[in-house]
Amino acid sequence: MARFTLPRDVYHGKGALEALKTFQGKKAIVCVGGGSMKKFGFLDKVVSYLEEAGLEVKVFEGIEPDPSVTTVMKGAAVMAEYQPDWIVAIGGGSPIDAAKAMWIKYEYPEITFEEMCKVFGIPTLRQKARFCAISSTSGTATEVTAFSVITDYDKGIKYPLADFEITPDVAIVDPELAETMPPKLVAHTGMDAMTHAIEAYVSTANCDYTDPLALHAIQMIQRDLVGSYQGDMEKRDSMHNAQCLAGMSFSNALLGIVHSMAHKTGAIFADYGAHIIHGAANAMYLPKVIAYNAKDETAKARYGVIADYMKLGGDTLDEKVALLIAYLRKMNDDLNIPQSIKNYGADSYPTEQGFVPEEVFLERLPEIAKNAILDACTGSNPRQPNQEEMEKLFKCCYYDLEVDF
Ligand SMILES: NC(=O)c1ccc[n+]([C@@H]2O[C@H](COP(=O)([O-])OP(=O)(O)OC[C@H]3O[C@@H](n4cnc5c(N)ncnc54)[C@H](O)[C@@H]3O)[C@@H](O)[C@H]2O)c1
Ligand SMILES: [Zn+2]
Repeated sequence: MARFTLPRDVYHGKGALEALKTFQGKKAIVCVGGGSMKKFGFLDKVVSYLEEAGLEVKVFEGIEPDPSVTTVMKGAAVMAEYQPDWIVAIGGGSPIDAAKAMWIKYEYPEITFEEMCKVFGIPTLRQKARFCAISSTSGTATEVTAFSVITDYDKGIKYPLADFEITPDVAIVDPELAETMPPKLVAHTGMDAMTHAIEAYVSTANCDYTDPLALHAIQMIQRDLVGSYQGDMEKRDSMHNAQCLAGMSFSNALLGIVHSMAHKTGAIFADYGAHIIHGAANAMYLPKVIAYNAKDETAKARYGVIADYMKLGGDTLDEKVALLIAYLRKMNDDLNIPQSIKNYGADSYPTEQGFVPEEVFLERLPEIAKNAILDACTGSNPRQPNQEEMEKLFKCCYYDLEVDF
Protein backbone atom coordinates (compact mmCIF):
# COMPACT_ATOMS: atom_id res chain seq x y z
CA MET A 1 0.00 0.00 0.00
CA ALA A 2 1.20 3.50 -0.79
CA ARG A 3 -0.05 6.81 0.52
CA PHE A 4 -0.43 10.15 -1.25
CA THR A 5 -1.05 13.08 1.09
CA LEU A 6 -1.50 16.78 0.41
CA PRO A 7 -3.01 19.67 2.37
CA ARG A 8 -6.81 19.59 2.28
CA ASP A 9 -6.89 23.08 0.77
CA VAL A 10 -4.38 24.83 -1.47
CA TYR A 11 -5.38 28.43 -2.17
CA HIS A 12 -3.41 29.77 -5.13
CA GLY A 13 -3.24 32.77 -7.42
CA LYS A 14 -2.99 36.47 -6.70
CA GLY A 15 -5.01 37.48 -3.67
CA ALA A 16 -5.03 33.95 -2.21
CA LEU A 17 -3.87 35.43 1.08
CA GLU A 18 -7.45 36.63 1.61
CA ALA A 19 -8.46 33.00 2.25
CA LEU A 20 -7.41 33.74 5.84
CA LYS A 21 -10.59 35.78 6.21
CA THR A 22 -12.58 32.54 6.09
CA PHE A 23 -10.71 30.77 8.91
CA GLN A 24 -12.70 29.48 11.86
CA GLY A 25 -11.12 29.32 15.29
CA LYS A 26 -10.27 31.23 18.44
CA LYS A 27 -6.57 31.99 18.63
CA ALA A 28 -3.91 32.08 15.95
CA ILE A 29 -0.16 32.36 16.39
CA VAL A 30 1.61 33.77 13.35
CA CYS A 31 5.21 32.54 12.98
CA VAL A 32 7.48 34.69 10.85
CA GLY A 33 11.16 35.29 10.08
CA GLY A 34 13.50 38.20 10.30
CA GLY A 35 11.62 41.06 8.72
CA SER A 36 10.96 40.77 4.97
CA MET A 37 7.30 39.85 5.46
CA LYS A 38 6.85 42.76 7.84
CA LYS A 39 8.74 45.18 5.61
CA PHE A 40 6.61 44.41 2.56
CA GLY A 41 3.33 44.61 4.51
CA PHE A 42 2.34 40.94 4.25
CA LEU A 43 2.53 40.32 7.99
CA ASP A 44 0.08 43.15 8.67
CA LYS A 45 -2.28 41.73 6.08
CA VAL A 46 -2.14 38.27 7.65
CA VAL A 47 -2.90 39.68 11.09
CA SER A 48 -5.76 41.87 9.90
CA TYR A 49 -7.36 39.10 7.79
CA LEU A 50 -7.28 36.72 10.74
CA GLU A 51 -8.73 39.37 13.01
CA GLU A 52 -11.42 40.01 10.43
CA ALA A 53 -12.25 36.30 10.73
CA GLY A 54 -12.74 36.83 14.46
CA LEU A 55 -9.54 35.27 15.74
CA GLU A 56 -7.28 36.61 18.46
CA VAL A 57 -3.76 36.90 16.99
CA LYS A 58 -0.25 36.72 18.45
CA VAL A 59 2.93 37.11 16.38
CA PHE A 60 6.10 35.09 16.99
CA GLU A 61 8.88 36.93 15.14
CA GLY A 62 12.55 36.49 14.43
CA ILE A 63 12.89 32.92 13.16
CA GLU A 64 16.35 32.81 11.57
CA PRO A 65 17.33 31.31 8.20
CA ASP A 66 18.17 27.60 8.65
CA PRO A 67 16.34 27.54 11.99
CA SER A 68 17.90 25.95 15.06
CA VAL A 69 16.64 23.48 17.62
CA THR A 70 16.85 26.30 20.17
CA THR A 71 14.43 28.50 18.18
CA VAL A 72 12.03 25.58 17.85
CA MET A 73 11.99 25.04 21.61
CA LYS A 74 11.52 28.77 22.25
CA GLY A 75 8.55 29.02 19.89
CA ALA A 76 6.96 25.90 21.34
CA ALA A 77 7.17 27.44 24.83
CA VAL A 78 5.35 30.54 23.58
CA MET A 79 2.68 28.32 22.03
CA ALA A 80 2.33 26.36 25.28
CA GLU A 81 1.55 29.59 27.09
CA TYR A 82 -0.71 31.11 24.43
CA GLN A 83 -2.61 27.89 23.47
CA PRO A 84 -3.44 28.69 19.83
CA ASP A 85 -5.84 26.53 17.81
CA TRP A 86 -4.28 27.78 14.53
CA ILE A 87 -0.59 28.00 13.72
CA VAL A 88 -0.06 30.23 10.69
CA ALA A 89 3.49 30.29 9.35
CA ILE A 90 4.48 32.85 6.73
CA GLY A 91 7.79 33.26 4.90
CA GLY A 92 10.38 31.09 3.28
CA GLY A 93 11.18 27.51 4.15
CA SER A 94 12.91 28.55 7.35
CA PRO A 95 10.05 30.04 9.39
CA ILE A 96 7.54 27.50 8.05
CA ASP A 97 9.81 24.55 8.88
CA ALA A 98 10.52 25.95 12.35
CA ALA A 99 6.79 26.41 12.98
CA LYS A 100 6.14 22.80 11.95
CA ALA A 101 8.64 21.56 14.54
CA MET A 102 7.22 23.95 17.19
CA TRP A 103 3.80 22.48 16.43
CA ILE A 104 5.03 18.96 17.28
CA LYS A 105 6.58 20.14 20.54
CA TYR A 106 3.44 22.16 21.38
CA GLU A 107 1.21 19.12 20.92
CA TYR A 108 3.66 16.80 22.74
CA PRO A 109 5.61 18.84 25.32
CA GLU A 110 7.61 15.80 26.48
CA ILE A 111 8.95 14.93 23.02
CA THR A 112 12.70 15.40 22.45
CA PHE A 113 14.30 16.65 19.22
CA GLU A 114 15.81 13.18 18.67
CA GLU A 115 12.34 11.62 18.87
CA MET A 116 10.99 14.16 16.35
CA CYS A 117 13.69 13.10 13.90
CA LYS A 118 12.39 9.52 13.73
CA VAL A 119 11.28 9.26 10.10
CA PHE A 120 7.51 8.73 9.90
CA GLY A 121 7.44 8.43 13.68
CA ILE A 122 5.71 11.66 14.67
CA PRO A 123 2.66 11.11 16.92
CA THR A 124 -0.84 12.23 15.88
CA LEU A 125 -1.06 16.00 15.69
CA ARG A 126 -4.14 18.29 15.48
CA GLN A 127 -5.17 17.58 19.08
CA LYS A 128 -4.52 21.24 19.84
CA ALA A 129 -4.04 23.16 16.61
CA ARG A 130 -4.26 23.10 12.84
CA PHE A 131 -1.54 24.45 10.59
CA CYS A 132 -1.57 26.91 7.70
CA ALA A 133 1.58 27.64 5.67
CA ILE A 134 2.01 30.70 3.45
CA SER A 135 5.13 30.52 1.27
CA SER A 136 7.06 33.63 0.25
CA THR A 137 9.89 31.89 -1.62
CA SER A 138 9.54 29.68 -4.68
CA GLY A 139 11.50 26.59 -3.81
CA THR A 140 11.09 24.51 -0.69
CA ALA A 141 7.33 23.95 -1.16
CA THR A 142 7.21 23.27 2.55
CA GLU A 143 3.65 24.65 2.43
CA VAL A 144 2.56 21.31 0.96
CA THR A 145 5.22 18.87 2.18
CA ALA A 146 5.60 16.36 4.97
CA PHE A 147 9.05 17.73 5.80
CA SER A 148 10.77 20.21 8.02
CA VAL A 149 14.51 20.85 8.12
CA ILE A 150 16.02 21.90 11.43
CA THR A 151 19.69 22.55 12.10
CA ASP A 152 21.54 21.27 15.15
CA TYR A 153 24.31 23.89 15.37
CA ASP A 154 26.26 21.92 18.02
CA LYS A 155 26.76 19.21 15.41
CA GLY A 156 26.64 21.50 12.32
CA ILE A 157 24.08 19.15 10.78
CA LYS A 158 20.64 19.67 9.24
CA TYR A 159 18.03 17.12 10.23
CA PRO A 160 15.00 16.52 8.03
CA LEU A 161 11.86 15.72 10.03
CA ALA A 162 9.50 13.66 7.90
CA ASP A 163 5.93 12.57 8.48
CA PHE A 164 2.57 13.21 6.81
CA GLU A 165 1.44 14.44 10.25
CA ILE A 166 3.28 17.71 9.52
CA THR A 167 1.79 18.18 6.05
CA PRO A 168 -0.08 21.47 6.58
CA ASP A 169 -3.89 21.57 6.65
CA VAL A 170 -3.99 24.67 4.47
CA ALA A 171 -1.40 26.01 2.00
CA ILE A 172 -1.58 29.50 0.60
CA VAL A 173 0.43 29.97 -2.61
CA ASP A 174 -0.01 33.65 -3.42
CA PRO A 175 2.49 34.83 -6.06
CA GLU A 176 2.39 38.41 -4.80
CA LEU A 177 4.55 37.31 -1.87
CA ALA A 178 7.23 35.97 -4.21
CA GLU A 179 7.50 39.17 -6.21
CA THR A 180 9.65 40.87 -3.58
CA MET A 181 12.35 38.19 -3.66
CA PRO A 182 15.82 39.47 -4.58
CA PRO A 183 17.28 37.72 -7.69
CA LYS A 184 19.78 35.63 -5.72
CA LEU A 185 16.97 34.13 -3.65
CA VAL A 186 15.01 33.44 -6.87
CA ALA A 187 18.01 31.57 -8.27
CA HIS A 188 18.67 29.46 -5.19
CA THR A 189 15.09 28.57 -4.38
CA GLY A 190 14.34 27.90 -8.05
CA MET A 191 17.17 25.39 -8.39
CA ASP A 192 16.01 23.81 -5.13
CA ALA A 193 12.62 23.29 -6.80
CA MET A 194 14.26 21.84 -9.94
CA THR A 195 16.21 19.42 -7.74
CA HIS A 196 13.03 18.39 -5.90
CA ALA A 197 11.25 17.59 -9.15
CA ILE A 198 14.17 15.66 -10.69
CA GLU A 199 14.97 13.72 -7.51
CA ALA A 200 11.27 12.87 -7.02
CA TYR A 201 10.99 11.60 -10.61
CA VAL A 202 13.92 9.19 -10.27
CA SER A 203 13.26 8.27 -6.62
CA THR A 204 12.61 4.60 -5.94
CA ALA A 205 9.33 5.71 -4.30
CA ASN A 206 7.98 7.41 -7.45
CA CYS A 207 4.52 6.41 -8.64
CA ASP A 208 1.79 7.33 -11.11
CA TYR A 209 0.52 9.98 -8.72
CA THR A 210 3.86 11.75 -8.31
CA ASP A 211 5.30 11.47 -11.86
CA PRO A 212 3.00 13.94 -13.66
CA LEU A 213 3.52 16.58 -11.00
CA ALA A 214 7.30 16.22 -11.24
CA LEU A 215 7.44 16.32 -15.04
CA HIS A 216 5.12 19.31 -15.33
CA ALA A 217 7.11 21.16 -12.66
CA ILE A 218 10.37 20.46 -14.53
CA GLN A 219 8.91 21.86 -17.77
CA MET A 220 7.65 24.98 -16.01
CA ILE A 221 10.95 25.59 -14.21
CA GLN A 222 12.88 25.12 -17.46
CA ARG A 223 10.57 27.66 -19.12
CA ASP A 224 10.37 30.25 -16.35
CA LEU A 225 13.22 30.19 -13.83
CA VAL A 226 15.90 32.13 -15.71
CA GLY A 227 13.34 34.72 -16.88
CA SER A 228 12.05 35.10 -13.32
CA TYR A 229 15.64 35.65 -12.17
CA GLN A 230 15.97 38.35 -14.83
CA GLY A 231 12.89 40.14 -13.45
CA ASP A 232 9.94 38.87 -15.54
CA MET A 233 7.10 38.95 -13.01
CA GLU A 234 4.76 36.71 -14.98
CA LYS A 235 7.43 34.04 -14.90
CA ARG A 236 8.00 34.80 -11.21
CA ASP A 237 4.31 34.07 -10.55
CA SER A 238 4.46 30.88 -12.56
CA MET A 239 7.53 29.70 -10.62
CA HIS A 240 5.54 29.99 -7.39
CA ASN A 241 3.13 27.36 -8.74
CA ALA A 242 5.86 25.24 -10.32
CA GLN A 243 7.75 24.85 -7.05
CA CYS A 244 4.52 23.88 -5.30
CA LEU A 245 3.79 21.15 -7.85
CA ALA A 246 7.35 19.87 -7.38
CA GLY A 247 6.64 19.83 -3.64
CA MET A 248 3.45 17.81 -4.07
CA SER A 249 5.51 15.29 -5.97
CA PHE A 250 8.52 14.97 -3.68
CA SER A 251 6.49 15.03 -0.49
CA ASN A 252 5.06 11.72 -1.64
CA ALA A 253 7.87 10.32 -3.81
CA LEU A 254 10.68 11.47 -1.47
CA LEU A 255 14.08 12.74 -2.61
CA GLY A 256 17.60 11.45 -3.15
CA ILE A 257 21.26 12.00 -2.33
CA VAL A 258 21.54 15.53 -3.75
CA HIS A 259 19.53 16.51 -0.69
CA SER A 260 21.46 14.15 1.60
CA MET A 261 24.68 15.86 0.52
CA ALA A 262 23.23 19.39 0.76
CA HIS A 263 21.90 18.72 4.26
CA LYS A 264 25.31 17.62 5.48
CA THR A 265 27.31 20.46 3.94
CA GLY A 266 24.96 23.42 4.58
CA ALA A 267 26.31 24.40 8.00
CA ILE A 268 29.46 22.28 8.36
CA PHE A 269 31.83 25.03 7.15
CA ALA A 270 30.04 27.83 9.01
CA ASP A 271 33.20 28.31 11.13
CA TYR A 272 34.93 29.42 7.90
CA GLY A 273 32.52 32.30 7.50
CA ALA A 274 29.50 31.19 5.52
CA HIS A 275 26.77 28.65 4.89
CA ILE A 276 26.40 26.81 1.62
CA ILE A 277 22.86 27.92 0.84
CA HIS A 278 20.50 24.97 0.39
CA GLY A 279 19.44 25.70 -3.18
CA ALA A 280 22.96 26.53 -4.31
CA ALA A 281 24.29 23.28 -2.82
CA ASN A 282 21.61 21.36 -4.70
CA ALA A 283 22.37 23.20 -7.93
CA MET A 284 26.07 22.30 -7.68
CA TYR A 285 25.56 18.65 -6.69
CA LEU A 286 22.63 17.77 -8.99
CA PRO A 287 24.62 17.34 -12.25
CA LYS A 288 27.18 15.15 -10.44
CA VAL A 289 24.52 12.97 -8.84
CA ILE A 290 22.71 12.54 -12.17
CA ALA A 291 25.94 11.21 -13.69
CA TYR A 292 26.35 8.84 -10.72
CA ASN A 293 22.72 7.66 -10.65
CA ALA A 294 22.60 7.16 -14.42
CA LYS A 295 24.74 4.02 -13.97
CA ASP A 296 21.47 2.49 -12.76
CA GLU A 297 19.47 1.50 -15.87
CA THR A 298 16.05 2.44 -14.47
CA ALA A 299 17.27 5.85 -13.35
CA LYS A 300 19.01 6.40 -16.68
CA ALA A 301 15.76 5.71 -18.56
CA ARG A 302 13.93 8.15 -16.30
CA TYR A 303 16.52 10.89 -16.90
CA GLY A 304 15.93 10.18 -20.59
CA VAL A 305 12.21 10.86 -20.14
CA ILE A 306 13.04 14.13 -18.38
CA ALA A 307 15.36 15.16 -21.23
CA ASP A 308 12.61 14.35 -23.73
CA TYR A 309 10.07 16.42 -21.77
CA MET A 310 12.55 19.27 -21.83
CA LYS A 311 13.02 18.73 -25.60
CA LEU A 312 16.78 18.52 -25.24
CA GLY A 313 17.30 16.14 -28.18
CA GLY A 314 19.78 13.23 -28.21
CA ASP A 315 19.37 9.79 -29.76
CA THR A 316 20.67 7.42 -27.11
CA LEU A 317 19.98 7.45 -23.39
CA ASP A 318 23.63 8.32 -22.74
CA GLU A 319 23.32 11.35 -25.00
CA LYS A 320 20.11 12.44 -23.28
CA VAL A 321 21.70 12.20 -19.83
CA ALA A 322 24.70 14.21 -21.03
CA LEU A 323 22.41 16.88 -22.53
CA LEU A 324 20.41 17.08 -19.29
CA ILE A 325 23.60 17.57 -17.28
CA ALA A 326 24.84 20.24 -19.70
CA TYR A 327 21.48 22.04 -19.57
CA LEU A 328 21.46 22.16 -15.77
CA ARG A 329 25.03 23.46 -15.70
CA LYS A 330 24.05 26.17 -18.17
CA MET A 331 21.17 27.12 -15.87
CA ASN A 332 23.67 27.48 -13.01
CA ASP A 333 25.78 29.78 -15.20
CA ASP A 334 22.73 31.84 -16.18
CA LEU A 335 21.75 32.12 -12.51
CA ASN A 336 25.25 33.02 -11.34
CA ILE A 337 25.56 29.89 -9.21
CA PRO A 338 29.01 28.24 -9.00
CA GLN A 339 29.51 24.72 -10.35
CA SER A 340 31.58 23.48 -7.41
CA ILE A 341 32.25 23.96 -3.69
CA LYS A 342 35.78 25.12 -4.46
CA ASN A 343 34.38 28.04 -6.45
CA TYR A 344 31.62 28.89 -3.98
CA GLY A 345 32.35 32.38 -2.65
CA ALA A 346 31.30 33.70 0.72
CA ASP A 347 28.53 35.68 -0.98
CA SER A 348 27.41 32.51 -2.84
CA TYR A 349 28.64 33.82 -6.21
CA PRO A 350 31.27 31.98 -8.27
CA THR A 351 34.83 32.92 -7.40
CA GLU A 352 38.32 31.53 -8.05
CA GLN A 353 38.93 30.28 -4.50
CA GLY A 354 35.76 29.98 -2.43
CA PHE A 355 35.37 30.13 1.34
CA VAL A 356 35.92 26.40 1.97
CA PRO A 357 39.70 25.72 2.01
CA GLU A 358 40.77 22.48 0.33
CA GLU A 359 42.50 21.08 3.40
CA VAL A 360 39.46 21.72 5.60
CA PHE A 361 37.21 20.05 3.04
CA LEU A 362 39.49 16.99 2.85
CA GLU A 363 39.84 16.73 6.60
CA ARG A 364 36.07 16.80 7.15
CA LEU A 365 35.21 14.70 4.09
CA PRO A 366 35.00 11.23 5.76
CA GLU A 367 32.61 12.49 8.43
CA ILE A 368 30.47 14.49 5.94
CA ALA A 369 30.23 11.49 3.61
CA LYS A 370 29.28 9.19 6.49
CA ASN A 371 26.55 11.58 7.60
CA ALA A 372 25.24 12.03 4.05
CA ILE A 373 24.84 8.26 3.69
CA LEU A 374 22.84 8.22 6.93
CA ASP A 375 20.56 11.11 5.84
CA ALA A 376 16.85 10.35 5.58
CA CYS A 377 16.87 11.21 1.84
CA THR A 378 19.40 8.49 0.91
CA GLY A 379 16.99 5.56 1.20
CA SER A 380 14.95 6.50 -1.89
CA ASN A 381 17.93 7.31 -4.13
CA PRO A 382 18.25 4.98 -7.14
CA ARG A 383 21.80 3.93 -6.13
CA GLN A 384 23.00 3.37 -2.58
CA PRO A 385 26.54 4.77 -2.33
CA ASN A 386 29.09 3.23 0.02
CA GLN A 387 31.55 5.37 1.98
CA GLU A 388 34.18 5.33 -0.77
CA GLU A 389 31.71 6.31 -3.49
CA MET A 390 30.18 9.08 -1.42
CA GLU A 391 33.63 10.53 -0.73
CA LYS A 392 34.46 10.36 -4.44
CA LEU A 393 31.18 12.05 -5.30
CA PHE A 394 31.90 14.86 -2.85
CA LYS A 395 35.38 15.28 -4.37
CA CYS A 396 33.76 15.67 -7.80
CA CYS A 397 31.50 18.33 -6.26
CA TYR A 398 34.46 20.12 -4.68
CA TYR A 399 36.83 20.10 -7.68
CA ASP A 400 34.17 20.00 -10.42
CA LEU A 401 35.37 16.64 -11.79
CA GLU A 402 33.57 14.25 -14.15
CA VAL A 403 31.80 11.37 -12.38
CA ASP A 404 32.94 8.08 -13.95
CA PHE A 405 31.95 5.50 -11.32
N1 LIG B 1 10.53 21.46 4.39
C1 LIG B 1 10.97 21.14 3.20
O1 LIG B 1 10.37 20.32 2.53
C2 LIG B 1 12.22 21.78 2.70
C3 LIG B 1 12.65 21.56 1.40
C4 LIG B 1 13.80 22.20 0.97
C5 LIG B 1 14.49 23.04 1.82
N2 LIG B 1 14.07 23.23 3.10
C6 LIG B 1 14.77 24.14 4.05
O2 LIG B 1 14.23 25.45 3.92
C7 LIG B 1 15.25 26.41 4.26
C8 LIG B 1 15.43 27.41 3.14
O3 LIG B 1 14.24 28.07 2.88
P1 LIG B 1 14.14 29.19 1.75
O4 LIG B 1 15.05 28.85 0.65
O5 LIG B 1 12.70 29.34 1.44
O6 LIG B 1 14.72 30.51 2.43
P2 LIG B 1 14.60 31.13 3.91
O7 LIG B 1 13.26 30.91 4.48
O8 LIG B 1 15.76 30.65 4.71
O9 LIG B 1 14.74 32.68 3.59
C9 LIG B 1 15.96 33.22 3.13
C10 LIG B 1 15.94 34.74 3.23
O10 LIG B 1 15.02 35.29 2.32
C11 LIG B 1 14.18 36.27 2.93
N3 LIG B 1 12.88 36.24 2.23
C12 LIG B 1 11.96 35.25 2.25
N4 LIG B 1 10.93 35.56 1.43
C13 LIG B 1 11.20 36.76 0.88
C14 LIG B 1 10.50 37.61 -0.05
N5 LIG B 1 9.34 37.24 -0.60
N6 LIG B 1 11.07 38.79 -0.37
C15 LIG B 1 12.26 39.17 0.15
N7 LIG B 1 12.96 38.41 1.03
C16 LIG B 1 12.44 37.22 1.39
C17 LIG B 1 14.13 35.84 4.37
O11 LIG B 1 13.83 36.93 5.20
C18 LIG B 1 15.53 35.27 4.59
O12 LIG B 1 16.42 36.27 4.94
C19 LIG B 1 16.51 25.61 4.52
O13 LIG B 1 16.66 25.43 5.91
C20 LIG B 1 16.24 24.29 3.82
O14 LIG B 1 17.01 23.25 4.37
C21 LIG B 1 12.94 22.63 3.52
ZN1 LIG C 1 15.34 21.22 -1.07
